Amino acid sequence: MNYKITVLPGDGIGVDVTREAVVCLQTIATKFGHDFVFESHLMGGCALDKVGVPLPDETLKAAQASDAVLLGAVGGPQYDNNPPRLKPETGLLALRAGLGVFANLRPAFLHETLIDASPLKPEIVRGTDLLIVRELMGGAYFGQPRGVDDERGWNTMAYTVPEVERVARVAFEAARLRRKKLHSIDKANVLESSQLWRKVVVRLAAEYPDVELHHGYVDACAMQLVMRPTDYDVIVTENLFGDILSDEASVLTGSIGLLPSASIGGKANAVGLYEPIHGSAPDIAGKGIANPIGTIASAALLLRYSLKLEKEARLLEDAITATLKSGYGTPDLKSQPNRVTTTQMGDLIRKYIGTH
Ligand code: IPM
Ligand code: MN
Repeated sequence: MNYKITVLPGDGIGVDVTREAVVCLQTIATKFGHDFVFESHLMGGCALDKVGVPLPDETLKAAQASDAVLLGAVGGPQYDNNPPRLKPETGLLALRAGLGVFANLRPAFLHETLIDASPLKPEIVRGTDLLIVRELMGGAYFGQPRGVDDERGWNTMAYTVPEVERVARVAFEAARLRRKKLHSIDKANVLESSQLWRKVVVRLAAEYPDVELHHGYVDACAMQLVMRPTDYDVIVTENLFGDILSDEASVLTGSIGLLPSASIGGKANAVGLYEPIHGSAPDIAGKGIANPIGTIASAALLLRYSLKLEKEARLLEDAITATLKSGYGTPDLKSQPNRVTTTQMGDLIRKYIGTH
């Protein structure tokens, strides 16, 4: 089959890690006889530098016209004082909105081999395997009014019934395919937007009697995640809470460099966006030490959700697991005995694909 994949390396280590993921996808294509056509475009700080905007029209159009989008990371300290419309992060938010991807799936799975890389005690963290479903197109990230003047800065956290319903549905469906347990996380003791959130989730639960539903407050969830991470299967939460909780969940598994994400929408032909959850880490860019696994695992999710190539996705994930099991790791994975570079890690993963 023929597929068009838009690649947006972005800034910093985004360039290093997408390179490895693209070569992995090429290896998969060759092995299974697919034809993947990759097209790279500017996005983030590099787009600001070259054409003056963080998300050029041409990039958004190309992304919308492809089967899936693979993104590295965006941002850098040189843009920190830019006005909002000229920030790399604004380009990322516009891309998410432009693709209509309202559900961001962030799995946090502990590879048994990396148990000593986790900051938690092995007996607490062993068996951690959870999925955060983060709402991606609403809440404080997009709510109006927003602004800042000399005296005040303000944002609006707002949700409508359909916005909650569509992301909750994704979460219920995901729970159904996993251990059938869903935690809806909110701050309903304080926030009205959370009260509506909870009401909608409760109503929808009637359609999913096979899924065990729990509600929790975000502050308590932040605590439970480090005390009893194995209590969780699927977590569904609003945009900002999901941003924070997913960073927390990621370090439980050893390194933020490991974790992938898939941003998907409701329509059958929606273009999915796949990116690691880490940032652009400009301090280590180009040094060959960035962990490419978060992006390679995102490429596996791309195969699964956008291209519907489950066998291929699984082989790529098996290759990651096997390579970690053999003791290889980039410097962020301190407990791994065999230290390798970004490219060596990619090569090892590709070698496994070639031989399995
Ligand atoms: C993430 C990032 C982004 C977010 C930034 C870069 C806009 O932190 O993908 O989690 O806050 O959503
Ligand atoms: Mn984040």
